[in-house]
Amino acid sequence: MSLLDQYLLWPELLREGFSRGLEKRVDVRRAERILVCGMGGSGAAGDLALLVARIYGSRVSIDVVKDFSVGFETRDYDLALAVSYSGNTIETISCLSEALAGGVKAAVLSSGGLLREIAERRGLPWIPLRSGLKPRAALPAMLGAILGVLASTDCLRLSEEEVESATARLERVSVEEARAYAEAIAESSIVTIASTRDVSALAERWRSEIAENSKKVAKVEVYPESAHNDLNSWLFFKAPASFIVIEGWSEYSREALRIASRVFKQVGRTLQVSVEKSLAGVLETSLLAGYSTVLAAQALGLDPAATPAIDAYRGELEKLWRARRSGL
Ligand code: F6R
Repeated sequence: MSLLDQYLLWPELLREGFSRGLEKRVDVRRAERILVCGMGGSGAAGDLALLVARIYGSRVSIDVVKDFSVGFETRDYDLALAVSYSGNTIETISCLSEALAGGVKAAVLSSGGLLREIAERRGLPWIPLRSGLKPRAALPAMLGAILGVLASTDCLRLSEEEVESATARLERVSVEEARAYAEAIAESSIVTIASTRDVSALAERWRSEIAENSKKVAKVEVYPESAHNDLNSWLFFKAPASFIVIEGWSEYSREALRIASRVFKQVGRTLQVSVEKSLAGVLETSLLAGYSTVLAAQALGLDPAATPAIDAYRGELEKLWRARRSGL
């Protein structure tokens, strides 16, 4: 299935992921602190779950770790969710092992792989994700499943109606809306995603989609902080640059972004994205990133699905990990 076709599945993936998370009845009743471990597209699901939890209100605090190690706080968590689409990401497996060694309860989200085997061996709840997709395109399946786990107890106030409405809204996002963003990405040597702090997780998602799908260098600037440093560089920048400005909900930060946008417009093409404060808004903005970056790759004659450097990194890391584990 083409990558574009995978993005077209988002409404279905969200509905399916949410109900799989809900049905699993992971025990988070008395939890106060939840850890989500995941890398790349799977880690992004954790970031966006945190953003959604902030929007709707959650009684648990959520930390997202994208590393080999959780760090010294491992024991403070009541539940660890290991999220890896493939189920074979070493960093995520390593964090899960550390959490289990620290006595933390855990659940696993994957389409299979080693994480599934570990879950079966250790008797952990395993939430299956639909297979055959690129992890980054499976975002709503993973986000939906995390939200389902949180909503199945009283951790998150997110209703099934809200999920249904997000599903309906995703169906209405058209590939055509993405054309101007795709052109901006394709024509520049660096793309800056400037956002307010409240939606910086969305800016990070755009950045990684541009890197993986469009194969372009992208950076994130978060305002107002970047007005005190990054902004200074632009008037001296000489290569073709584009700016995607993601507006969140904090009034003063939006003003800061508007002031910065006047500088961006002197340097290169500057396009706006406003995010509605809802699950639908978060996912619509993410889907726009998916469509735009696939179209940009097509315009550049590149395969949006190919990620050779990531694959090579993963292969080397896996070899190293297996050698160490077998005591070599
Ligand atoms: C590839 C992609 C990557 C992966 C990352 C972690 O489509 O999006 O960012 O998500 O390499 O792999 P998984 O998600 O399998 O744990």
